[in-house]
Amino acid sequence: MATANMPDRTPQSYDAIILGAGAAGMMCALTAGQRGRRVLLLDHADEPGKKILISGGGRCNFTNINTAPDRYLSANPHFAKSALGRYTAADFIALIDRHGIAWHEKTLGQLFCDGSARQIVAMLLDECDAGKVTIGLGHPARAVDHADGQYRVTWGDRTATAPALVIATGGPSIPKMGATGFAYDLARRFGLKVVEPRPALVPLTLGGEETLFRSLSGVAADVVARCGKAAFREAALFTHKGLSGPAILQISSYWRHGESIGIDFLPDLAPGWLAAAKRAKPRAGLRNTLAGHLPARLADTLVDRLGIDGELGALTDKRLDEAARRLADWRFTPNGTEGLAKAEVVAGGIATDGLSSQTMEARRVPGLYAIGEAVDVTGWLGGYNFQWAWASGWAAGQVL
Ligand code: FDA
Repeated sequence: MATANMPDRTPQSYDAIILGAGAAGMMCALTAGQRGRRVLLLDHADEPGKKILISGGGRCNFTNINTAPDRYLSANPHFAKSALGRYTAADFIALIDRHGIAWHEKTLGQLFCDGSARQIVAMLLDECDAGKVTIGLGHPARAVDHADGQYRVTWGDRTATAPALVIATGGPSIPKMGATGFAYDLARRFGLKVVEPRPALVPLTLGGEETLFRSLSGVAADVVARCGKAAFREAALFTHKGLSGPAILQISSYWRHGESIGIDFLPDLAPGWLAAAKRAKPRAGLRNTLAGHLPARLADTLVDRLGIDGELGALTDKRLDEAARRLADWRFTPNGTEGLAKAEVVAGGIATDGLSSQTMEARRVPGLYAIGEAVDVTGWLGGYNFQWAWASGWAAGQVL
């Protein structure tokens, strides 16, 4: 790998210029480079793969062994099938095994490094090196033009040309890390459509009457969170702004402003469980009964909101069944999300109908490609987004 930081006004010619040295850009660069292509990989950040470095709490949840197309959101649910089917979680595992990186499955098929996310970045850079990829860091692309079948990119004091240009600059979540909406602007300039981007895998905020749940900040429970047909069983966490935790982050990707989400606080209990508890222990209080299954503070708040209390024996089966039903589908109507500053990814992005699902090339703009999070393909929480970055980067890298 050559680094190209010295000013030089002579245009350098490459087979492909890749904008964005993140997960997708590096995978694309190393794949094309190892096929003998002369690749220039550019990033405005001073080091590559910054989101990889902070991912998975510093251990990078680099893939998920349960990867399947139905775990991705997109205006075209079929778009991701080809790339995900041709570059699989097993392929990425084989790569990290070749580099001797130790890993483990944490939960739900999520694979993490035993050591550090730095190992993943170092591996990708080694592989770029093997493909003789030229990497230019620390300068944004100042100008991007297309004429006579050549893309011309000016970055810092240098200019490079190539017949292929890959947009791999990701989405604008966590702007303080240098994330931008550059991909969308560039795509639009070339006539591609962009599906309205929105924060995803993001905490939800509560207002109005539901503000009182904020007093539970720090309390967590194992729940099923639902929105439309989507349902996730994982932990939910109350925060000083509303709701977070894996179940909420997952459901946030499906949630739209104005909609409510349903929380089943007691997913292991059958609908008539409270009436059955009354028969078993009529003197037991509703609060204590709930606190047998939920954190006490949460049980208290829920009982306050239910508007019934006292000994189970004093309550009719009808009221207990009604309470059990509400606890199994507690409706929250979030007033928003914590926004791009807290979103793990951005849903929406460059519309897939303008791209080939085989190669990621723009259908109407020869030589222009888009990969990774910049594209309207958004995975569940748990390694799915990196797997899309690897797979889409690999697919484009095969044809550059
Ligand atoms: P990515 O964002 O990685 O790379 C884009 C690159 O483009 C960056 O290097 C950026 O500097 C550069 N760039 C942007 N604008 C530019 C411009 N104008 N000019 C030049 N360069 C520019 N996913 C997962 O599967 N497992 C996980 O554990 C996590 N954990 C996680 C934690 C946190 C805190 C966040 C924010 C995100 C995650 N993710 C995740 C999501 C994952 O990080 C994300 O989906 C991938 O990094 C997307 O890869 P891309 O290469 O598409 O974009």
